[in-house]
Amino acid sequence: MNRIICDEYEDLSRSAADIVADQIGKKPDSVLGLATGSTPIGLYEELVRRCDAGKIDFSKARSFNLDEYYPIMKNNPQSYNYFMHEHLFSKVSFSSARILDGETDDPLGECAKYDEEIKAAGGIDLQLLGIGVNGHIGFNEPAESYSMPTYHVKLSGSTISANSRFFTDGEKPPTSALTMGFGAIFGSKSILLLISGASKAQIAKKLFEGKIHTGIPACLLLLHPNVTVILDRAAAAEL
Ligand code: F6R
Repeated sequence: MNRIICDEYEDLSRSAADIVADQIGKKPDSVLGLATGSTPIGLYEELVRRCDAGKIDFSKARSFNLDEYYPIMKNNPQSYNYFMHEHLFSKVSFSSARILDGETDDPLGECAKYDEEIKAAGGIDLQLLGIGVNGHIGFNEPAESYSMPTYHVKLSGSTISANSRFFTDGEKPPTSALTMGFGAIFGSKSILLLISGASKAQIAKKLFEGKIHTGIPACLLLLHPNVTVILDRAAAAEL
């Protein structure tokens, strides 16, 4: 894995934006795999700035997001659909931007269709990832086995309670999600993993031990030939 250590979160975001810009520069109709969460927000802000300045153009690019809660309405402010619209898609126009449908009444069909669509697009060129403190990738939580296809996953009690802080006014957090499995992630030609903040220092250390810990989904990325990890100083503190 290539490793880039930046001083601050802002530097990490700029460095990640350079990699995305390079990808789009080389291949304007790239297929990007996108992620939500707090980590890529700075990257999305930087991409919007560069777009506004005419330095990057996503009009030919296509995107697929990693995951979505299920069930959830698209207009729910906690949905990943809403997040992507707020942080990127309302400001930057892509040729197509696909997110798993949290409103579908056929979650299994939706997952199968998603993998077909990724395949039909020629696979993902650059997959952006964040990482959970427990090493989760997308909604692929630590487990004894991992799914290759996109699938409907029941969330663990700890994930549901961690997410419950975002759901206010007595709204219950979703108990399941739809997520890309390792098939689409691994099929990606290159992977960009962003790790920021002191809370991620321990998991970053585990990842760079260079061992496949089966209970840590992110360790599977060690098997991919083209992964770049960008960390800020706080996340890299234990390396
Ligand atoms: C988001 C996702 C998650 C996050 C992870 C880290 O689409 O799939 O795996 O990448 O939970 O989240 P943050 O960045 O909020 O620490």
